[in-house]
Amino acid sequence: MTVSVVYPGSFDPVTYGHIDVIQRAASRFSRLIVACLQNAGKDPMFDVEERIALLEEVTGDLRNVEVAAFDGLLVDFCREHDVRLVVKGLRAVSDFEYELQMAQMNRSIGGVETLFLTASPIYSFLSSSLVKEIARFGGDVTDFVPPPVADRMRARRW
Ligand code: PNS
Repeated sequence: MTVSVVYPGSFDPVTYGHIDVIQRAASRFSRLIVACLQNAGKDPMFDVEERIALLEEVTGDLRNVEVAAFDGLLVDFCREHDVRLVVKGLRAVSDFEYELQMAQMNRSIGGVETLFLTASPIYSFLSSSLVKEIARFGGDVTDFVPPPVADRMRARRW
């Protein structure tokens, strides 16, 4: 049976926590589409082209993974790609409340089911926002993001 899934997010930038979810989902499903939200907040560190280029670079070894930009409703993106299942990572109980709301809403408005993968414990405290804050103040992010991302963050002018 061929089952395609969508893994949506802002990926500003992609972290080892995201990559862990991507690898685990890609090994269990036939096809995984990483859907990168175009308008990721008011002040994204990277524009969508840069975020997608980094996602493609760090997932290049996974043959069944594709990366695409999306805007608007996630359920519309899923319908356009003929996908009925979304994968999300859950780090802590604090993630759960909002994720549950979104999952219920996506099922209600688009018939799209959400499957949660629990974050690997070593990544349970990791977020793109914290990584950006560390980088902004000159801290070392190499434990949290792959080398191409760390390089781009270092090269970034603030
Ligand atoms: O990485 P993030 O910022 O936590 O990802 C959030 C994302 C992109 C998954 C979420 O904001 C989303 O799905 N946005 C698309 C708009 C949408 O469909 N909203 C209704 C959800 S109920």
